This record gives sequence, structure tokens and C-alpha cells, in this order.
Amino acid sequence: MKSEWFKDWFNTQEYLNVYQHRNESDAEDHIKLILGNVKIPSGAKILDMACGAGRHAIILARKNFHLTAVDLSENLISIAEQSAQNENLKINFVHSDIRKYETNDKFDLIINLFTSFGYFESDEENYAVLQKAYHLLVENGFFVLDFFNSEFLRQNLVEFSEENLGGAEIHQYRKIKNNRVTKKIVITKNGNLSTYEESVRMFSKDEIVNAIQNIGFDIYKTFGDFLGSEFDKLSSPRLIMICKK
Ligand SMILES: C[S@@+](CC[C@H](N)C(=O)[O-])C[C@H]1O[C@@H](n2cnc3c(N)ncnc32)[C@H](O)[C@@H]1O
Repeated sequence: MKSEWFKDWFNTQEYLNVYQHRNESDAEDHIKLILGNVKIPSGAKILDMACGAGRHAIILARKNFHLTAVDLSENLISIAEQSAQNENLKINFVHSDIRKYETNDKFDLIINLFTSFGYFESDEENYAVLQKAYHLLVENGFFVLDFFNSEFLRQNLVEFSEENLGGAEIHQYRKIKNNRVTKKIVITKNGNLSTYEESVRMFSKDEIVNAIQNIGFDIYKTFGDFLGSEFDKLSSPRLIMICKK
């Protein structure tokens, strides 16, 4: 497993094909739950940490919030920029590794959605992302972390799946090892075969809560899915935490 796998995989065209169900309508549900549960002023400053193709940033910018959106993938950032331009939306897109991102701005709300956390090898580096969020928030600002529920994943891991998407045959092999969930994605398209990897640290809810509280956040609300269901360790697919500085 390449330790910085995320630099390659998210920069491919195939990423958006494999995760095509993670679309704007999915993002609408996320934003509905978030805006229904945080208190931010109209025209607030929002940072999307790891914005991908910009699906959340664009919905938020349409609502007249001031958006900064950071991502490491040049490909995804340029798709996001194009989508914003098509709608004449002003979004400050930044192509950067979140570890290196610096600004004098402070934000009312920071979002980190769809498992954009836990990619690094060491907990120190992973927790530094939470610290960065804390540092970049105004007093009383909100941070939303959307991660998988590790306990649920352990019980419900689908070890193999295959599908045909966008003319590509996609085989995904998943396993849990050394407290990480890894996925090998094998794509065959027009006779060409390519292989990618994902590897994410499986944080338990307690580990995330401890890390977040040690940094100084209060846990404001916790949900188990984007319908707003209560978090249940065994049955919730997601761990969605709304944290307050
Ligand atoms: C699973 S995707 C989620 C994207 C977006 N939040 C969404 O919901 O569509 C994870 C994103 O994290 C970005 N990413 C990974 N490592 C990063 C890093 N070190 N700094 C900034 N972005 C990173 C990837 O490029 C990718 O866009």
C-alpha cells in the first residue's frame, strides 16, 4: 500500500465515475442537515476542507455564503472551478494539501465531508487536521466531520463488489487490517486495466470524541446518517459530528 495513495486516486477521472452516486442530490441532503443544525449568520464564511469536485461548496455558494474550498486534487479542483464558473458563483478554490493550507481568514463553519479524514499514516497527522479546523474557526464557530461508523463497517464490510459504470468494469476488494480499512479498486476500460488503492484509519467514536474534545471543541450534536437519525454504534452507517469552538 502506497502511504500517500490519496494523491493519485483522487486525481484520476475514474474517481468520479466510481463514486457517481455521491452527487449533488446526495450533497443537498448533507447541506440540509448541516444548515438545520448550526447557527451561522447569513453571508457567513465557510471553508470546505477537501471539497472534491465542489458539490457542497456550490450548493452553499448558491445560498450566498462566502466559500473557500481546498483540495489536493488538481483534477477535482478544476472541475469544481468550471462548475462554479458555469453558474457565475464566486468561490475561492485553493489547490493545496490541507496540511499546508494557511490563511488569515477565520470561518464561521468548516466542513469535512464524505470520509475526507483518516488518510494519513499517523494519528498525529490525522488529528492535526482537526486542530487546523479549530484554529481556522471564529469563536463559537462550527466544525462538521462526516466519517464512517467503524463499528458498523467492521460488521458489514462487503469484501468484494463488481459493477459496470460509464463503460468500465469496476471490481472493488475491501479488507480490514491493522485498524485500517483498505480498498483495492481494479478498473478495466477499453481493454486497459488500472489499479488504485484507498486506506483509511478506522477511528472509533470514542477516539474521535477524545481527539475533538482534547483540542478544545464541544460536541454540539451527533448523527448516524444524513436523515438526522440518532447515532447508534451498531446500526448507524455514518458518524456525523457537529462540533463547536
Ligand atoms: C472522498 S473525497 C470527498 C470529496 C468531497 N468532500 C465530497 O464529498 O465530494 C476526499 C477528498 O479529499 C481530498 N484530499 C485527500 N487528501 C487531501 C489532503 N491531504 N489535502 C487536501 N485534500 C485532500 C481528495 O482529493 C478528495 O477530493
